[in-house]
Amino acid sequence: MKRFIDLAEHSPEEVAALLELAARLERHPEPTALRGKVMGMLFFNPSLRTVASFQAAMTRLGGGSFVITPGQGTWKLETRDGIVMDGEAAEHIREAVPVLASYADVLGIRAFAGGIDLQADIEERKFMEMAGYCPAPLVNMESAVNHPCQALADWKTMDDIGVPKAGGRFVLSWANHPNPLPLAVPSAAVHMAAMRGMDVTVLRPEGYELPEAIMGRARAAAAASGGSLRETDDRAEAMEGAHVVYAKSWQSTRYYGRPADDRAQRAALEHWMVDESWFAKARQDAVFMHCLPVRRNVVVADEILDGPRSRVLPQARNRMTVQMAILHRLLAGGTE
Ligand code: CP
Repeated sequence: MKRFIDLAEHSPEEVAALLELAARLERHPEPTALRGKVMGMLFFNPSLRTVASFQAAMTRLGGGSFVITPGQGTWKLETRDGIVMDGEAAEHIREAVPVLASYADVLGIRAFAGGIDLQADIEERKFMEMAGYCPAPLVNMESAVNHPCQALADWKTMDDIGVPKAGGRFVLSWANHPNPLPLAVPSAAVHMAAMRGMDVTVLRPEGYELPEAIMGRARAAAAASGGSLRETDDRAEAMEGAHVVYAKSWQSTRYYGRPADDRAQRAALEHWMVDESWFAKARQDAVFMHCLPVRRNVVVADEILDGPRSRVLPQARNRMTVQMAILHRLLAGGTE
């Protein structure tokens, strides 16, 4: 494996092998597997889980890591091309990315969506430009419309609790939030669940339809796995027989890049907060998932996060375990 930037670049067999390796490393730690290896991490956006879980994963495998947050103790980085750099940024990504890669055996980059130009975000222009400057193996730590490490952790979380693949009902639900958030997690989650062979429903209010490029990718994954994909704004219909309710807020695709219009639209959507009433038509043992961070009593009620349905802590823990497998495969070699 040369890079881990998109689950769609990997066959179902490769994903199964990564999940098996993650489970094996959980049972049988390999504290020297990556001795002498270094992971560099470049964060253009904040993080709690990603930064901590990658550092922990490298340490548990015997390697080391460094973290660069541009502008916070390090130079501000310019990402635009052809620019006269007479502003605050002292260094360009054209130099910074290969320099950091030269110190590391693997580089991770987090660069959220610009949130202005939907097509540019869907094409992952910023992330893929940086990927082009990186000669080392690369990990996507969340880009404009993808979060493959989160997706793999979510897949493992469902495996761990026996959520069925074929016939498993996965509902990705839009949820209330004060801010217009990126499409990365919803996009990665629907693709992952479709690739896992599940029957996937995207539940969202009008104006929050997922773009066709994202739905089309998930539809293709569902066609290959025997799963299915549909989209609705009817909560009762979506929740019927659900095994998993995965909540996430994302910005309006009708008003993409127009946050004031998006906020005006979502002012009437405060009732899109997941509470126990949402599970009336779901399976009795249906679980709640969210990638975190989550705003309590805005996105989801305390009763869900503090109750038996919540799987948010195992999801977060699994970030570390699947990333150990990804790093092991990238740096220690082994069969696909
Ligand atoms: N889920 C996730 O990526 O968390 P952080 O933003 O805290 O890294």
